[in-house]
Amino acid sequence: MSDFEAEDLRKRSLSSENTFEGLVDAQLSRRGFLVGAGAVAATAAATSVITFGVPSEAQAATGFTTVAETTADTVTVPPGYKFDALLPWGDALFEGDAAWGHGAGEINGGNLTTAEQNRRVGYNHDMLAMFANPFGSPASVAAQIAVFNQEYTDPTSMFPGYKAGNPSRNHVDVELAAHGITIAGIRLVGDTWVHDKAMRVGDTAEGALVARRVTGTTRFTVDGPAKDDPRLAGAVVGTLNNCAGGFTPWGTYLSAEENFNQYFANASGVPAGRTKDNFRILGMTNGASERRWEKFHDRFDLTKNPNEGFKFGWVVEVDPYDPTRRPVKHTAIGRFKHECATVVVQYPEAQTKGKVVVYSGDDERFDYVYKFVTDGTYDSTSPRAKSHFSLLSSGTLYVAKFNANGTGEWLPLTIDNLNTVAAGAFDDQADICLRTREAGDAVGATPMDRPEDVEAPCDPVTFAGTGKVFIACTNNSNRGGSANRPTGTVRSGAIDAANPRANNRTGHIVQINETGNDHTSTTFAWNIYLLAGDPKAATGAVGDVKDTFFGDRFGSPDNVAFDKRGLLWISTDGNPNSYPCNDQVLCTEVAGNGKVRVKRFLVGPAGAEICGPLFSLDNTTFFCNIQHPGEGRASTFPYGAEARPALVAVRRTDGGIVGN
Ligand code: FEO
Ligand code: CA
Ligand code: CA
Repeated sequence: MSDFEAEDLRKRSLSSENTFEGLVDAQLSRRGFLVGAGAVAATAAATSVITFGVPSEAQAATGFTTVAETTADTVTVPPGYKFDALLPWGDALFEGDAAWGHGAGEINGGNLTTAEQNRRVGYNHDMLAMFANPFGSPASVAAQIAVFNQEYTDPTSMFPGYKAGNPSRNHVDVELAAHGITIAGIRLVGDTWVHDKAMRVGDTAEGALVARRVTGTTRFTVDGPAKDDPRLAGAVVGTLNNCAGGFTPWGTYLSAEENFNQYFANASGVPAGRTKDNFRILGMTNGASERRWEKFHDRFDLTKNPNEGFKFGWVVEVDPYDPTRRPVKHTAIGRFKHECATVVVQYPEAQTKGKVVVYSGDDERFDYVYKFVTDGTYDSTSPRAKSHFSLLSSGTLYVAKFNANGTGEWLPLTIDNLNTVAAGAFDDQADICLRTREAGDAVGATPMDRPEDVEAPCDPVTFAGTGKVFIACTNNSNRGGSANRPTGTVRSGAIDAANPRANNRTGHIVQINETGNDHTSTTFAWNIYLLAGDPKAATGAVGDVKDTFFGDRFGSPDNVAFDKRGLLWISTDGNPNSYPCNDQVLCTEVAGNGKVRVKRFLVGPAGAEICGPLFSLDNTTFFCNIQHPGEGRASTFPYGAEARPALVAVRRTDGGIVGN
């Protein structure tokens, strides 16, 4: 940081209008109005089945008994609930393949080959989506295509005898195969969800097998403004660090490539210029990578292959209903550490056709929130229409600016706008798509406290939104210090209205209300939905929630989901304030006094993060993924042997609505 930047930061943090008390008080008064405003009618298409929105008080109560804090090495759920684990890392996806285990002829981390891993569930489950099989089935359908991300590998946990800094070729290639996406059939049998290896698309004998893997070596197509850019020339191979994501009403899965920088080495050899700057901004390593994949694959050596660094950081689309459709990387939605790709459709009043809006966060301290609005329209009367598969190739990308007075703007990242505010800084629209963080800097977007999941309550069939959007900001212990972006642009790391706590170790959730409840609007109102932490923390202490909620304490809100009533559920990633509790899932209610009440619903096993919270359409199952059990603490989840990331299905023992 330059002396100028340091002085600027100091002045801003001392300025009276930016005091913590003033900011939070202002936000709380706005929130009281917005929460109290109650349900907002969706501009729903004729086929809408469920009204989503901030629930009324009568809808808001939940009936489960809150779960106590625990460090137990299991999934802990309320009395009257049960959980089942399925599809753990390494399970065979195809009938006839060897079982996972340590007996004769069985497969485990000690003998796993690349060919085997390509036919098995990948590692470190993250985003999760369910697709009714066949497409468009009723809400109660018991056959689902489960699609989930495999964010990253932990070779020390996976392979007995793995030597950090000196992997074997087999280690590296198995890791590439354990990344990406897993597609598998699951079926509700009695009251238990089970893996169905034989499931076929359409649930008929004629359909293609559902089971499939997309990995670090799968071929991709590229579309959008940057598809012909020389930096993306040649084959585009693999998807990596797939974190959260989304799904579309036309039955496809969206997967967001997040911390892809960690796979690359030797950025030091890239000549000075915009590419080198971009790699530095994204955190590419100057020397050897920690994983050392470059030892066996030149494409991960940026000195030898700088363009490969541009082939990641995208939103990718996969069609679980059609294995012959090649997965696509959508350059129109920008390249950064994409956290999610949440879809809503903006139908004009009483219409069945509307533009598609995709929200995404860039999960780094002091990075931005984005939305993409398609040029074309989705037609809810013909969900699988061919034209829908190119909707995400063309539209307008925006980045969010949060003003201190509770208003906000979506700033267009178009070449016209960039030429106005930063003439000559970008060659064309393709260049903006490839260097999106720099474009956000140039237009003056608001740096956020790790904007992770961005979710909008919407109708689960038509995807009609309510105009409301919730942004989970995981945490940012550097808030109040340096924003640390070496672009030459002065970026303050001082607290601001949307990120009001210095040393924000516990995170917060921001609510957006799009102007006119219109998701294509370029303006919005916003408020702090809650500051995560401990409602009992002393005033001004780290984790003080400033009366933004009452109930159970938690930190690091990471992924959020909505149930059938529109209640917001939160899963956490990390416990930076050392509460004696593993990562957890919590439900937020709106209590009788208009205040948010947080209730702990689930606690995960030792060392695990909870990802991909999701309700079945009939709300009788809560699904989530258990990522990195055993990280930093011993775990034998899920089956009493080695720790394995897995999917979890939670149901009431009486089969009733989860949360009621
Ligand atoms: Fe992969 Fe931002 O969590
Ligand atoms: Ca995440
Ligand atoms: Ca995370």
